[in-house]
Amino acid sequence: MSKSSGRWLKEHFSDPYVKKSWEDGYRSRAAYKLTELQKKYRFIKPNMRVVDLGAAPGSWSQVAVQHIGKRGTLIALDLLEIDPIPNVTFLQGDFTEETAYQKLIAELGDQAADLILSDMAPNMSGNKTSDQINSLALTELAYDFAKNTLALHGHFVSKVFQGPGLDQLIRAAKLNFTKVHLCKPDASRDRSPEHFLVCLDFKKGCL
Ligand SMILES: C[S@@+](CC[C@H](N)C(=O)[O-])C[C@H]1O[C@@H](n2cnc3c(N)ncnc32)[C@H](O)[C@@H]1O
Repeated sequence: MSKSSGRWLKEHFSDPYVKKSWEDGYRSRAAYKLTELQKKYRFIKPNMRVVDLGAAPGSWSQVAVQHIGKRGTLIALDLLEIDPIPNVTFLQGDFTEETAYQKLIAELGDQAADLILSDMAPNMSGNKTSDQINSLALTELAYDFAKNTLALHGHFVSKVFQGPGLDQLIRAAKLNFTKVHLCKPDASRDRSPEHFLVCLDFKKGCL
C-alpha cells in the first residue's frame, strides 16, 4: 500500500462523519453537507420535484427524498450506477452529453423542477488549476440546466471549487435568483477546495 493511500484510509476510518454515515444508514459522508445546507436554508420542501446531478453513491438523494416525501419526485443522474433508492428515478449517463441532458428533460416531462442539486465533481488529477477548471465547467452546465428547467421560485444548489471564473458565475446567478450564498459546510474537509453555491428563489425570465 502506498503512503498516500494509507493516509487516506487512516483519515477515512477516523472521520466522525464517515462513522455517523454508517450509523445513520447513509451511503456516504456527503449526506451531512446537504443536511447542513438544508438546516441553514430550508430549500427542500414536501412534494417538490428535484433533480440530483452527480448522485452516486446516493446519499444526497437519500437526504432529499426524506424531505420531499412520497408525493415528491426525485430524478438522479450519474456516470456511475447506484443501488436503487425508494422513490428515486435513476438515470445513468454523462451530464456533459446531449443524450443524458435530453433523458433528464424527457423524465421531467412538461413540468418544471423546483430544485436542482449538483454535487458533480470531476476526476481529480491533483493539478489544482485543471481540477478547478473542470469543476467550474460542470457547475456552469448544471447552472444552465437549472435556468432552463426551474420553476419560478425554484432553487439551485451546487458544489463549486473556488478559483477563476467563480465570481463571474456568482454575479450571473445574482441576476437570476433573489438570494445567492457561497458556503463551506463543516462536513466539507478543510483541505478540499469545494464550496457550495446556494441560489434561492429563481426569477424566471431573467438573463
Ligand atoms: C462527490 S460525488 C457525489 C456524491 C453524492 N452527492 C452523494 O451524496 O452520494 C461526485 C459524483 O459526480 C459524478 N459525475 C462527475 N462528472 C459527471 C458527469 N459528467 N455526469 C454525471 N455525473 C458525473 C461522479 O461520477 C461522482 O459520482
